[in-house]
Amino acid sequence: MEESESPAFTSQSSASAADPATVFSLAEAGDNKVERIASGIAEVDRVLGGGFVKGSLVLLGGEPGIGKSTLLLQVADRLGVSGQGVLYVCGEESPQQIGVRARRINAASENVRLLPELDIAVVEATVREQRPDVLVLDSIQTACDPDMSGVPGSVGQVRACTARLMRIAKDLGVTTLIVGHVTKEGAIAGPRVLEHMVDTVLYFEGSRNHAFRVVRAAKNRFGATGEIGIFEMGEAGLSAVDSPSAALLAERSECVPGSVVMVAVEGTRPLLVEIQALVTPCVSQMPRRLATGVENARFLQVLAVLESRAGLSFASADVLVSVAGGLKVAESAVDLPLALALASALLGRAVSLDMAAFGEVGLTGHVRPVSLSESRCREAVGLGIRRVIGAGWRKKPVDAAFVEARTVVDALQVAGLLGSGQAGPERAGLLGGTSKEG
Ligand code: TYD
Ligand code: MG
Repeated sequence: MEESESPAFTSQSSASAADPATVFSLAEAGDNKVERIASGIAEVDRVLGGGFVKGSLVLLGGEPGIGKSTLLLQVADRLGVSGQGVLYVCGEESPQQIGVRARRINAASENVRLLPELDIAVVEATVREQRPDVLVLDSIQTACDPDMSGVPGSVGQVRACTARLMRIAKDLGVTTLIVGHVTKEGAIAGPRVLEHMVDTVLYFEGSRNHAFRVVRAAKNRFGATGEIGIFEMGEAGLSAVDSPSAALLAERSECVPGSVVMVAVEGTRPLLVEIQALVTPCVSQMPRRLATGVENARFLQVLAVLESRAGLSFASADVLVSVAGGLKVAESAVDLPLALALASALLGRAVSLDMAAFGEVGLTGHVRPVSLSESRCREAVGLGIRRVIGAGWRKKPVDAAFVEARTVVDALQVAGLLGSGQAGPERAGLLGGTSKEG
């Protein structure tokens, strides 16, 4: 592997190895507040925690074609319009191609300068001379450090180029944004090998087949990582989705078995998403279990709980679940809506359109409360949901729409999937409903 350090790393300290360095007291460190530059795109600022920190190095990763170049060009244009000088290094595309995209998204700021260049030393020299406020490099996989061996895109090259950019960013206070492609084959020299080197890592999620694109922070030295930005790719670039919950539920117009609304939370924002399940007779030897957008382990656990605690059998069926709109839900709060969707699909009974759910389901079949239940209820009610099923023994939401379910069987009864008193085909020894008390 090409792991040898570039000469650039050592040149700073070689002159006078014994000079003492300045040390800081903990009390004074961090006294000067970080200066932020608003990106001009609210959804991006939300993910960053209020804009780019001046002099920080930000990596934007994602699969080819997801919209990284489009987003950065939009950001560059907004920054340019607000008076920031932007140097846009295009290694992947010609200025001509960028120009075509710029016209498509109505970007024409005078302050955005294009530099078609692959050599990172030339980029550095140009930055030192031009002193832009913001540097964009699209992409790190095409950049090349002449002092290093290896082809552009190799681990050694992307690391060396990133280290060099980090030094430029800190030396000159240039806010630097770099694009990194994630490859399907496990990201050989993709953004993952750079995550530890940069200040902030943003990932573009979603698939090219769906209109929605989600930007999520995987690492943020200057803020939280929970917030997401939701975009839609349109004819003129990416735009924020006004009411993501409403858009995500737009396709639900009639009651269909296997569809349940989940009230999820991304960062601090509640979001209504549709969890879908399909249960079909198994045709092969091995029943299929396939989850898209939900962690496989969660899905299998919920399935097992339904089988052993609610007496439902999926043994001779293929079972598929997914999150509508191509979204990913990593929260444990998906358990309960997932259980309802699975039961609904198996029994062929639809859950009412004005019902939603959230909550973690333990192996015992009990429903556990999750965070932010109050704001989940509020978001749901705001979008016309009349009943929200969840657990609330610690801090019960006062919302009138909230219906408490202590066990998954309770929840199935509240949703009308199992008659009260009757809980699953063979009930003996299984969790009974306790929803009547309190
Ligand atoms: P792009 O930003 O080039 O993706 P990346 O840099 O991540 O590889 O473009 C993503 C896709 O979006 C591309 O197939 C073309 C499409 N697109 C639109 O639909 N509308 C637009 O306004 C633009 C600029 C691109
Ligand atoms: Mg691109």
